[in-house]
Amino acid sequence: MSLRISTLWDSVGNTPLLRVGSLSKRSGNEVLGKAEFMNPGGSVKDRAAKGMIRAAEEKGLLAPGGTIVEGTAGNTGIGLALLGGERGYKVVVTMPDNQAREKYEYLEALGADVRRVPVVPFSNEQHFFHAARKLAEAHGWFWANQFENPANGDFHYETTGPEIWEQCEGRVDVLVGACGTSGTLSGVSRYLKEKNPKLEVVLADPAGSGLYTQVKEGRLEGSGSSVTEGIGIMRLTENFRRARIDDALRVSDQEMVEMLYHLAREDALVVGTSAALNVHAAWQLAQQRPGQNLRIVTFLNDHGSRYASKMFNPAFLQERGLEVRPLR
Ligand SMILES: Cc1ncc(COP(=O)(O)O)c(C=O)c1O
Repeated sequence: MSLRISTLWDSVGNTPLLRVGSLSKRSGNEVLGKAEFMNPGGSVKDRAAKGMIRAAEEKGLLAPGGTIVEGTAGNTGIGLALLGGERGYKVVVTMPDNQAREKYEYLEALGADVRRVPVVPFSNEQHFFHAARKLAEAHGWFWANQFENPANGDFHYETTGPEIWEQCEGRVDVLVGACGTSGTLSGVSRYLKEKNPKLEVVLADPAGSGLYTQVKEGRLEGSGSSVTEGIGIMRLTENFRRARIDDALRVSDQEMVEMLYHLAREDALVVGTSAALNVHAAWQLAQQRPGQNLRIVTFLNDHGSRYASKMFNPAFLQERGLEVRPLR
């Protein structure tokens, strides 16, 4: 026996790859979800946080007592507050003010300095991205800049990609997932395509995001909005440019909600909105090619409890015109 005491830092990654039993059985393919909600901060973004802190320390941009600032939909902020907190950094986050309240509460419990900003287009200087940049410039803080920082996607290339490859014993047929910064899809697609050039990579895009038309037609166009959080974007980022994507499909909020409840009730998987959207995309692909035993991998980015005030709140669903219906 040996003493096995770890750190939060060392607990990032090595998440299980789960089989979504109901969808695999129904489609005759293997629908697999990387359980990123099992990271110490409860989301895939712990990986981005660790990669960006590590790179900043190596470059001398972060030193003991330093402050990290980031614009975030919440999860990157949680990852930074958790891992940065463990390493003695102060964390300041700018966040749009329409995210699930559970994320603000978690960040505040961690002692992060949370600055809520209005939901505005990227061109507006009040946008959370610009607000973070301006704070960094004004105070000399380290700006993580997850959208443009290659250390985000590179950490997925180094960890998430190889984990999936090994967990699948070297056979992955399709990789599908939504993009926020694209760190996850860029790092994992690059790694897995190197291993299997025939791998098919599909972007799953919510309403209001321009990435679907970017992949399909080479131009950003999107209208409407989505209740999903952390995904969908109307501009090209460095991490997206590095992603190796072959095709794209769209998933509506209604489809996402149907999958969210299906997974909870049929597979005991309570996942967040982006994860439910990802699995719906995987389901669409699995249905298009029934009975082929294809290994279709996606990401279970975070846990459903993080959105309880929205997704498990009938009043919220009704207000958005969303219905809990059986999966079609
Ligand atoms: C819940 C959730 N899902 C998905 C993503 C998107 O991941 P990525 O930024 O690696 O594209 C994010 C990013 O913030 C997120 O918070």
